[in-house]
Amino acid sequence: MPASCWFIPILVGYFYRDEYERRRSVLKILVTGGAGFIGSHVVDAYVQLGHEVTIIDNLSTGRRENLHPKARFLEIDVRDAGKVAEIFNATHFDLVNHHAAQMDVRRSVDDPVYDASVNILGVLNLIECCVKNGVLRVLFASSGGAIYGEQDYFPADEQHPTRPISPYGVAKLTTENYLFYYKAVHNLDSVCLRYANVYGPRQNPEGEAGVVAIFASRMLAGASPVINGDGRQTRDYVYVGDVVHANVLALNTAGTRIFNIGTGVESDVNALFRHIRNSTRSNVEELHGPAKKGEQLRSVLDARKIQAALGWKVSVSLEEGLQRTVEYFRSKKRHGG
Ligand SMILES: NC(=O)c1ccc[n+]([C@@H]2O[C@H](COP(=O)([O-])OP(=O)(O)OC[C@H]3O[C@@H](n4cnc5c(N)ncnc54)[C@H](O)[C@@H]3O)[C@@H](O)[C@H]2O)c1
Repeated sequence: MPASCWFIPILVGYFYRDEYERRRSVLKILVTGGAGFIGSHVVDAYVQLGHEVTIIDNLSTGRRENLHPKARFLEIDVRDAGKVAEIFNATHFDLVNHHAAQMDVRRSVDDPVYDASVNILGVLNLIECCVKNGVLRVLFASSGGAIYGEQDYFPADEQHPTRPISPYGVAKLTTENYLFYYKAVHNLDSVCLRYANVYGPRQNPEGEAGVVAIFASRMLAGASPVINGDGRQTRDYVYVGDVVHANVLALNTAGTRIFNIGTGVESDVNALFRHIRNSTRSNVEELHGPAKKGEQLRSVLDARKIQAALGWKVSVSLEEGLQRTVEYFRSKKRHGG
């Protein structure tokens, strides 16, 4: 057999090997929502790994102090299709990590049109640019709690029926469906990470969401936070560092994948209150207010799929994560933040 019979296919394979593999040593990554709580930690990790990161954020809930100095920051709203297109024309991104969102569930109930303008139309602006500009992969911050709704079984795996009971959850599920369509028709890879309740340093204590941040900052200020209803509603609290690790592993994941990111451990609000009270060394009273109408009762995720596929696992226990978060808020308070 002439040498060319085996040599030529190898040569062809070399030049046409996966485009992503070829580009991946230093990726050009666009992180939307990179001034926010989770997005800013993801940016830190990507910069640390040597990737070139651009952030777009409209600073509606994000903060300048969260921005990594080595990342390029553009104050842009994802709803502004023209400006979003300009950035894609100016920089050839390999990957888009989408964390920008209207992420207040109650606001989505009060104003579903606004929610959809950011969480559906804003996402479409980005994905259309990805397709037109040869972006190889989209990572999407989805929500396990919001997508599954009231669960039939505990913990919920990715096969659990999806029955969102808020416009926010509908928008997250719609985006996942769009990403499936864009893979089928335009061959755009995507990884949807369905987060449980994420907590940790930099979470905003001013909003409605983020019970850990709210409880910790109020207790450190000597005030009693109010527990909604009997406090027996449960959530799966996952530390932001573990969520970031999933975003790092997902950089090299091909195809269209959906993974839960949670601990599999259910904690109720009363237990969380007591943990944080211990960590803050506070002696505030346990105060209960009226239950919030329509609030989900139990939510907990099974993350064994990503564990088997990518080796992701929880590395920070609730006690340790709460301690780190309380320390963050304590030091912020000391520095007048
Ligand atoms: N925190 C959680 O427990 C949790 C759980 C599931 C999913 N998520 C998802 O993770 C992502 C990040 O959430 P987070 O907790 O860090 O919230 P966050 O509010 O801190 O981050 C959202 C960021 O998006 C920016 N943003 C909002 N609207 C924008 C717009 N129109 N254009 C550009 N930027 C805009 C905000 O300024 C902010 O920096 C969101 O997509 C959220 O839905 C969060």
